[in-house]
Amino acid sequence: MPRADAKLLRALKGEAFEVPPIWIMRQAGRYLPEYRETRKRAGSFLDLCYSPKLATEVTLQPISRFDLDAAILFSDILVIPQALGYSVEFIEGKGPQVETVDLAKIRFEDADRTVAKLERVLEAVDRIRGVLPDEKPLIGFCGAPWTVATYMIAGHGTPDQAPARLAAYRDEAGFSRLIDILVDASAAYLIAQLRAGADCVQIFDSWAGVLDDDQFRKWSVEPARRIIARVREAVPGAPVIAFARGAGARLGDYARETGAEGIGVDWTVPPQIAASVVGPKQAVQGNLDPLRLIAGGTALDRGVDDVLLAMRGRPHIFNLGHGITPDTPISHVEQLIRRIRKT
Ligand code: CP3
Repeated sequence: MPRADAKLLRALKGEAFEVPPIWIMRQAGRYLPEYRETRKRAGSFLDLCYSPKLATEVTLQPISRFDLDAAILFSDILVIPQALGYSVEFIEGKGPQVETVDLAKIRFEDADRTVAKLERVLEAVDRIRGVLPDEKPLIGFCGAPWTVATYMIAGHGTPDQAPARLAAYRDEAGFSRLIDILVDASAAYLIAQLRAGADCVQIFDSWAGVLDDDQFRKWSVEPARRIIARVREAVPGAPVIAFARGAGARLGDYARETGAEGIGVDWTVPPQIAASVVGPKQAVQGNLDPLRLIAGGTALDRGVDDVLLAMRGRPHIFNLGHGITPDTPISHVEQLIRRIRKT
């Protein structure tokens, strides 16, 4: 089957299916015993990200186990700050620790030089595409500038991203320079992933939901729009999925103004609202509550049915409303897939 005929890519061109394509955010991860085994062999999480051989192995694990409709490159959004020269560490049980940025001292960075530091990731993309079956698209990704900036300002994850929100109000010019640098680096990185073999790319704006309306436009919508424009210019026809978690009432504006082929939706947006505010030719991607997948049983079945019903007749990519968590039973993932595919 030619790659362009893969369901996920057809959905991103605006086609509706009786049974939608399925993939799961964070599908390669700690809920899989085979992932935990490879991870042990790799050493640290970042060693795994920068080993083309092992990153390929874990990228393929959820495809082999569940026959999902797409693979997502195994990496992390924080490789960009690292390539920009800020140290990044993943500390067991504490999450990511990032060297903080001083907005007063920030200066222009050459995006091609930044991307050159990620050649091991691009080598993984090439390697994955070489072994992945032709009917399975490979999704590349980056963090959205706002979400990546929240880690660079606070130095770690925070419950409400207050440090970055305050920095953006107090030093708008400095913060805007940081966002510009991240737009340049992220666009160049996505273009490089597409050239290395990715079939489409996703922009993860996991922390967009904390922004007020003015800041949401400035730091979430605009940067995504600029990244997408550059990707389109460099790689015509390459589809982009934009996911602003917590977009809420702004979802329709986000979909229209970014113009992405796919729009990720978290589980707090009623699926019938997502179906009506996202453009008729844009695919809605989502939006099952990941906790329904942990609970299983009727909570899972009802959640799946509600999403499927709301998306009938419109382009849709089935996914969770955010990443799968380490405590998810594998049998529930199997139940999810059977329910969607009616097998
Ligand atoms: O979807 C996939 O399977 C592809 C791989 C992927 C990972 N991270 C692997 C990972 C993707 C797409 C990401 C994106 C990412 N990373 C985001 C945006 C999406 C989201 O879920 O909100 C964010 C905010 C990060 C930053 C990050 N990386 C966090 C907060 C953590 C968790 C720290 C922890 O210990 O729980 C990570 C680590 C991480 N990234 C893991 C995986 C599989 C777990 C690390 C491990 O194996 O120990």
